[in-house]
Amino acid sequence: MASVRRGAAMLCHLCAAALFLSSVTGRFIVERSSIRVLRPVHIKGRHESAIANFGIPNYGGTLRGVVLYPEKGSNGCSPFDGRQFRSRSGRPVILLLDRGDCYFALKAWNGQNSGAAAVLIADNMDEPLITMDTPEESRDDGYVEKIHIPSALINREFGMVLKIAVEKGSEEVFVSLDWRESIPHPDERVEYEFWTNSNDECGARCDEQVNFVQNFKGHAQILERAGYTQFTPHYITWYCPEAFLGSKQCMSQCINHGRYCAPDPEQNFTEGYEGKDVVVENLRQLCVHRVANESKKSWVWWDYVTDFHVRCSMKEKKYSQECADDVIKSLGMPLGKVKECMGDSEADVENPVLMKEQEVQVGRGSRGDVTILPTLVVNNVQYRGVLERTAVLKALCAGFKESNEPSVCLSGDIETNECLERNGGCWQNFSLNVTACKDTFRGRVCECPTVNGIQYQGDGYVSCKAVGPGRCAVDNGGCWSETKGSRTISACSEYELSGCRCPFGFHGNGYNCEDIDECKERLACQCDGCSCKNTWGGFDCMCKGNLLYIKGEDTCIDKNASNFGWWLPLLILSCVVGAGIAGYIFYKYRLRSYMDSEIMAIMSQYMPLDNHHNEEQPLRQDSTI
Ligand SMILES: *[C@@H]1O[C@H](CO)[C@@H](O)[C@H](O)[C@H]1NC(C)=O
Ligand SMILES: *[C@@H]1O[C@H](CO)[C@@H](O)[C@H](O)[C@H]1NC(C)=O
Ligand SMILES: *[C@@H]1O[C@H](CO)[C@@H](O)[C@H](O)[C@H]1NC(C)=O
Ligand SMILES: *[C@@H]1O[C@H](CO)[C@@H](O)[C@H](O)[C@H]1NC(C)=O
Repeated sequence: MASVRRGAAMLCHLCAAALFLSSVTGRFIVERSSIRVLRPVHIKGRHESAIANFGIPNYGGTLRGVVLYPEKGSNGCSPFDGRQFRSRSGRPVILLLDRGDCYFALKAWNGQNSGAAAVLIADNMDEPLITMDTPEESRDDGYVEKIHIPSALINREFGMVLKIAVEKGSEEVFVSLDWRESIPHPDERVEYEFWTNSNDECGARCDEQVNFVQNFKGHAQILERAGYTQFTPHYITWYCPEAFLGSKQCMSQCINHGRYCAPDPEQNFTEGYEGKDVVVENLRQLCVHRVANESKKSWVWWDYVTDFHVRCSMKEKKYSQECADDVIKSLGMPLGKVKECMGDSEADVENPVLMKEQEVQVGRGSRGDVTILPTLVVNNVQYRGVLERTAVLKALCAGFKESNEPSVCLSGDIETNECLERNGGCWQNFSLNVTACKDTFRGRVCECPTVNGIQYQGDGYVSCKAVGPGRCAVDNGGCWSETKGSRTISACSEYELSGCRCPFGFHGNGYNCEDIDECKERLACQCDGCSCKNTWGGFDCMCKGNLLYIKGEDTCIDKNASNFGWWLPLLILSCVVGAGIAGYIFYKYRLRSYMDSEIMAIMSQYMPLDNHHNEEQPLRQDSTI
C-alpha cells in the first residue's frame, strides 16, 4: 500500500487534525519567464526570472520597458510618496527593487502605485531562483488582490548588472520581459486542471476558490463546449497510516477504512462537519465530472460546483447528501450513475476514482507535486499569479498554438445562453412570465429578479416570492382575497412589507379570512333596543325611536342632543387623527426593520471571514519575503 500512496499526504493524528503533506521530499518547480536586455549593447543578453505568485503575469505576451532603480527606498517597502516614475523616452517603467525587509507583494504594490508597469526584484543572496509567494496575513488588507502588474525575481548577479547600468545613467536600460514560453503550447487544445476542495469553511483560501469557480465558469464552459480545452477537476486526499486505523481521528476524517481522508473543517471532532463529509462531497464532485464527461457534457461540473456552494453551503449547515442530490437532479443529471461511481464509502475496498486522485497528486514531467490548494495547472505547468478570471484566461490562451486561439481569447466578451436550455435549472413561473435565470459572462446564475418594480426573493432555484412594496400585485402576495359584487377585500397590505393579515371585520390567519358576524358575537350594536344586521366585512345598526347610531362609540344619541353636540365630533376627529399617527409610526417601524434586515443581508456578504488555514506549510522553494 505504501508505494501506491507515495504521493498522497498523510493524516496527522497527534497534532489534532493538522495535516502533514509527504511532499517534504516532493518536487517544487519554479515557473520562469525570460528577460532580454536590449540596450546598452555591452550588457545585451537573455536571463531567467521566476514568476511571482501574485499579480498578473502577461502569459503569452511580452512587455518592453525601461529599467529604473530608485535612489531612495530601493527595497520598496514604503510607498514612494506619490512619486510617479517616468522614463525619459516615455516608455513603460520596469521598476527594479531589492529583496528584503518586507513582503515581496508589498514591494510590487508600492511599485504599481508609483506607475510601474512591472516590478523586478533582485535577490540579495546567491541562490537558485525561488517563487515569490503571497503573504498570508495581508490578505485581509486586500492589497495583494489589487496587484495587477507582473512581478518577477531575478538573481543577485543579474540585479547588480542592471543597477550599475542604471546608475551610470548615460543610456536608458531597455529590456523585454517575455512570457511567451512560460506555458507550453504544443497543439490546438489546452489541457488544464484545477485542484480544489468542496470544504467552504477554511476562510480566505476557500473563498478564493469559490469566487474563482463562480467567476471563471462562463469562460470555462464556452471553451469546453467548443472543444478548445479539456478541463479536469482534482481533489487532494490524505490517508491514514495503518497503525492509526482505529483512532477516533481516522474514523471521523476518513472513508473506506482509512484510505481516503480530509481534515475536519472546524478542526474539532466533537462538533460540526467531519472530514469524512468533505471526502464524500469531493468524491461526488469528481463523479459528477466523470458522469458528465461520459455524456460529452463535462462543463456541467462548473454548474454543479457553483450551485452546490450556493444551495448547500457548510456555513448555512446545508452541506448534505440530500442537498447535493437535489442539485444533481436540477441539472438534469442521472443521479443513479453518480451514486454508482461513488461506490460504498464504508466498505474496506479501494475506490478507483479516489485512488486515481492520489496517484496524480505526484508531480510528473514539468509539473511539481500538488501540495497546496488551490492549484491551477495549464498544459502541465503550474499557473502563477492571482487566481482571477482575466489572468487565468490569459494563461489558458497562451497555451494555444499561435493563431489557433479561440475568439474569447481575443474579445473576452461572452454570452452563454444557458437560460435557453431547461431555464438553466432555475426557478420560473410561466403564468407570470418571470424567471430567475440570468445569462452573464460568468455563466448563468439563478437569482430572483425584480420585474416591473416588483422584487422577488428566495433561493432562485426552487422558490422566489414577491416581497416589499408591490408584492400585492402578484397573486395578491399569496394572501386571501375575495370579491363580492363590486367590492374586493384583500388580506395583503401595501403598507406591510410581508405577511398577510385579515382586514377589519374579518378573522383568520391572512391566508383564509372569514367575515365576523358582529351581531351574533355581540361585538357591537348591543345598545338597548338596537337592531343589528350583519354585512360582509361590517354590520348595520339601527337605534330605537329616532335616536342616531354613532358607530365609533357604538352608542345611540339623541339627534338634537346639544349637550353632546360639541364634543362628540371632536372626540371622533381626535380618534381618527390618533389612529392615523399610530398607523404611520407602525408603518415607519416596519419599513425600518425591513430595511435593516436587507442591509444586514448585504453586509454579511462583504464581511471579512476568518482566515485560518488547514494546511501546514510544507518546506517549499518559495518565500513571501
Ligand atoms: C469543540 O466543540 C465543543 C462543543 O462546541 C467545545 O466544547 C470544545 O471546546 C471544542 N474544542 C476545541 C478544541 O475547539
Ligand atoms: C473525459 O472524456 C474524454 C473522452 O471523451 C477522456 O479522454 C478523458 O480522459 C475523460 N476525462 C475524465 C476525467 O474522465
Ligand atoms: C415575457 O417577458 C419578456 C421580457 O421580460 C418579454 O420579452 C416577453 O414578451 C414576455 N412574454 C410573454 C408571453 O408575456
Ligand atoms: C405561478 O404564478 C401563479 C400566479 O401567481 C400561481 O397561481 C402559480 O401557482 C405559480 N406557479 C408556480 C409553479 O409557482
